[in-house]
Amino acid sequence: MAVLPIHVLGSPVLREETVPITTVTDELRRLADDMFETMHAAKGVGLAAPQVGRRERLAVVEVEQVRIVLINPEIVHREGDITWEEGCLSIPDVFGDVRRAAKVAVRALDRDGKPFEIEGTELLGVCLQHEIDHLHGRLFIDHLSFLKKRKALAAWDDEKAKYPAFIRDLALEVDTADRND
Ligand code: NI
Repeated sequence: MAVLPIHVLGSPVLREETVPITTVTDELRRLADDMFETMHAAKGVGLAAPQVGRRERLAVVEVEQVRIVLINPEIVHREGDITWEEGCLSIPDVFGDVRRAAKVAVRALDRDGKPFEIEGTELLGVCLQHEIDHLHGRLFIDHLSFLKKRKALAAWDDEKAKYPAFIRDLALEVDTADRND
């Protein structure tokens, strides 16, 4: 397995629509494994393919030690609303309160290409919605109010110089403090 470079805000791939997966190949399963490894190295709870520069409709999530591979995920039910402070491995050290559905049901294919459905609330529900957004070129900052988005982008202006060519190389961050974004 490998820790992959993470694309950060400014890299065009983060704003592109992904392509649905027709066949789950061994190469895609390896990609999912590498994405878990990358997510762990970055101390995150979810990662979507565009964040590692890929266009496939694939994301991984791990909440409370349950690993979920999501291939072609779709939200099939939403209920209520919740406000949650979110961050993103592609916008390091920037956070904002996002309002989303309090509960979602998601239909997807697993790493063997078998359909399944999962429900999530709280962190899992937020994370599912955040990662599915990534697969359609959307980022959590897009959900912020005008003023909060401006504040987040101002914070990012101070951060982005750390990431030449909009690439975050986790190997260079070995001594950074623990984070939960
Ligand atoms: Ni994210």
